[in-house]
Amino acid sequence: MDWKPDRSDKKPIYKQIAEYIEKGISAGDFPTDLPLPPERRLAEKLNVNRSTIVAAYDELQSIGLVERKKGSGTWISTDIWGLSHKRMPNWGRYVEGGSFLPNQPVVQRLRTETQREDLIDLASGELAPDLFPSETFQEIFTKTPFHGHLGYDHPQGNEMLRETISMHAKEYRDIQINPESILITSGAQQAIHLIVQCLLKPGDAVAIEDPSYAYSLPIFQTAGLKVLHLPIDENGVNPDDIEHLHKKHRLRMLFLNPDHQNPTGTKLSLSRRKRILEISSEYGIPIIEDDPYSLTSFSGETGPTLKSMDHLGNVLYISSLSKIVASGLRIGWVMGPEKVIERLADAKQQVDFGHSVFPLWVANEFLGSGQFKGHISMLRQQLHERRDQLISSLNSHLREKTDYFIPEGGIHFWCKIIEPMDEFRLLEESIKRGVAFVPGNVLGTKKGYIRFTFGRGDIDSINEGIRRFADVLRQMVKIKN
Ligand SMILES: Cc1ncc(COP(=O)(O)O)c(C=O)c1O
Repeated sequence: MDWKPDRSDKKPIYKQIAEYIEKGISAGDFPTDLPLPPERRLAEKLNVNRSTIVAAYDELQSIGLVERKKGSGTWISTDIWGLSHKRMPNWGRYVEGGSFLPNQPVVQRLRTETQREDLIDLASGELAPDLFPSETFQEIFTKTPFHGHLGYDHPQGNEMLRETISMHAKEYRDIQINPESILITSGAQQAIHLIVQCLLKPGDAVAIEDPSYAYSLPIFQTAGLKVLHLPIDENGVNPDDIEHLHKKHRLRMLFLNPDHQNPTGTKLSLSRRKRILEISSEYGIPIIEDDPYSLTSFSGETGPTLKSMDHLGNVLYISSLSKIVASGLRIGWVMGPEKVIERLADAKQQVDFGHSVFPLWVANEFLGSGQFKGHISMLRQQLHERRDQLISSLNSHLREKTDYFIPEGGIHFWCKIIEPMDEFRLLEESIKRGVAFVPGNVLGTKKGYIRFTFGRGDIDSINEGIRRFADVLRQMVKIKN
């Protein structure tokens, strides 16, 4: 308890303490199955006389918030609602009781820690600020007049942008799709969320890669889905595993991130792509192809996407501008049969009435401009250099302590820690040293792995981050042995 009464305040100290405890009770900070802190201990903690605490507890008793039981202390009243004239909601219980599950604590912790300026962020899955096309955007803002409609837009998202995305899909991903079969979403994440909410029901079995970014999303658990895992090797998931899982659990959907997968960086091989499409059509299993990374391929060689090979309409294709332009735009899209797109668009309308018109406008200007191509080749080259830096830093600072797969695109690097180690403790110690990564357990069932994101930092910070990490790892190995 860091709080202390304010002695300069005109309000009596016992009242301040009573109000503080009252707030704590309503926020659920004090467990209801244990007494409140004993008077003497609380008095010492707050540096007041015991009689002040007695007065504060008396005050709370007088409004029915606490009960004082002889010999067992002061307890939160079991009938707060009936007796208190203030009728406070117990926010703590509300916060815990909602059906939408919170993020894992370590994800929440990383979100807070990565706001720190002194921390080298090798954890957040996004591009470094110098990789955003900021100047081009500035030009668009200053030189291009906005003539767009300012009311609610089409339920599937701005028509012009959908036209542009349709042309982009043809040029860059070999996907032939008309604008009516596209829904613009708030990032790829919203597309996944809408699919889970609209097309699946509790108890449905779905298969995801293991490890996978999807593993870190509580939206599958929130929807009550049975989540089954498909182990990944260097060529992606094994089609035989999909068939096996389907025969056992009757899969309702398959979630795959075939290109430069998050977190492993692997690419699903062509023969496996073909076989997975065969399995999908043989058993009627829809595939969700989540593809934010294919355009980052260092060699420039992309595809073929599953969607471009799908002639039956079995694949719902998701992509986004987050990893190739700017995550803050929150522009993603999903492509699929019109019937499905209309259903998802209807749900999106219920959630947010569609996207804000300005990111749609600027995305359309940029994606449709000649500058997009140049931006992507700059991005590929930069990401390639940053990946190489990460490898060279690992080799010089941590020779033989790690093992890794070398990704040929994307922004993530999956790294095995040779000496068995608690990755969460490793993270805690690393944060103290000023560097963060994602423990593998957040992203899958495999122990002993961590994910570095090389797209998030510049060359110097990647090297310094790995140097700090290496210090921590060596120290922990030393203590262990
Ligand atoms: C594979 C994959 N899919 C989807 C997303 C969500 O991205 P966004 O919602 O920013 O488009 C991410 C983000 O890390 C990702 O790695």
